Amino acid sequence: MSNRTLLVTGSSGLIGSEVCVHFADRGWQVVGVDNNQRAVFFGPQGDTRWNQRRLQEQLGGNFQHAELDIRDRSGVLALLAELKPQAIVHTAAQPSHDRAATIPFDDFDTNAVGTLNLLEATRQSCPESPFVHLSTNKVYGDRPNSIPLKELDTRWEYEDPAYSNGIAEDFPIDQSKHSLFGASKLAADVMVQEYGRYFGMPSCCLRGGCLTGPNHSGVELHGFLSYLVRCNLEGRLYKVYGYKGKQVRDNIHSHDVARFIEAFLEAPRVAEVYNLGGGRANSCSIWEAFKIAEQFSGKEQLHEYVDENRIGDHICYISDLRKMRQHYPQWDISISLHDTIGQIVRSWQTRELVA
Ligand SMILES: NC(=O)c1ccc[n+]([C@@H]2O[C@H](COP(=O)([O-])OP(=O)(O)OC[C@H]3O[C@@H](n4cnc5c(N)ncnc54)[C@H](O)[C@@H]3O)[C@@H](O)[C@H]2O)c1
Repeated sequence: MSNRTLLVTGSSGLIGSEVCVHFADRGWQVVGVDNNQRAVFFGPQGDTRWNQRRLQEQLGGNFQHAELDIRDRSGVLALLAELKPQAIVHTAAQPSHDRAATIPFDDFDTNAVGTLNLLEATRQSCPESPFVHLSTNKVYGDRPNSIPLKELDTRWEYEDPAYSNGIAEDFPIDQSKHSLFGASKLAADVMVQEYGRYFGMPSCCLRGGCLTGPNHSGVELHGFLSYLVRCNLEGRLYKVYGYKGKQVRDNIHSHDVARFIEAFLEAPRVAEVYNLGGGRANSCSIWEAFKIAEQFSGKEQLHEYVDENRIGDHICYISDLRKMRQHYPQWDISISLHDTIGQIVRSWQTRELVA
């Protein structure tokens, strides 16, 4: 397993940093690409330098930081030509669907063109190396909202039993409202599949539900549980946008994301697509998340209800994990929603906060 090089983009972010630690601990040489663009997208509260420093201190010689913008095509081509990594995990992105509308060029250049830069650099320098792309459930647009729902006391629920296991990978991706973010990520998703099918490169798209964990720099526009917990601890008002606060998210801990990526890299496939979330067991509505956060912190969650929902926001989204489990039976969710929220609470309690 040793002497293998892994290139991770977005290495200072939630998923990227988790992947760096996971693989460095398993003897890989990890090179992380990040330019702290999250602070540009979201301001000082989105700053990820603290996480970069954590990786550099914790992983020592097994980790190298590359200060590079994935939009820098010649820089990306040169880095891949120099490293010829044995695997690429691409997590760098403009990750917010609300933010995308105000920065459409930055959003598309990062999410779609940045991904193309990495794919083509991989094809030119190391086409046999598996390419794992972090995609999103927003590729399905707001079409999941057309599934008939029933209203329960604290959450929405699918009425149609066809969705009792959640939404599968064959769900339609077009003719719905995606947000500009969903559209730029869909362009990247299809491009990753195409480099797989057309050039035979081992690759997969992981269409994330809510990816979460203690190392998220959660902000109002991205990182739902991380931001919700931060508001709880600091006594800040959390705004609930529409759907009676009963909108359902399925939450997966970043450690379980890294474990799935490891399983995929051990037995890569070509042009695969997986819906990657916490599944039904790790799903919650906003009200339900408040209650769990309150249990850990002992503080009441201050909130304000805004009638209007976020544009294109899912009312109920639960990932169907059966394809992941079938292709990689050694993998399953290992961290419960409850434990995940507990970890997020402890992380915010110990982190140096930017106001
Ligand atoms: N967190 C979620 O709930 C969620 C859900 C679905 C999909 N995803 C996807 O998973 C991936 C990782 O998400 P995350 O939550 O870890 O995001 P994150 O914002 O925490 O991390 C992304 C990192 O990429 C870096 N970055 C952004 N643009 C860059 C650029 N042009 N060049 C170099 N670095 C750049 C940022 O500075 C940041 O550190 C993204 O592709 C995102 O769309 C996340």
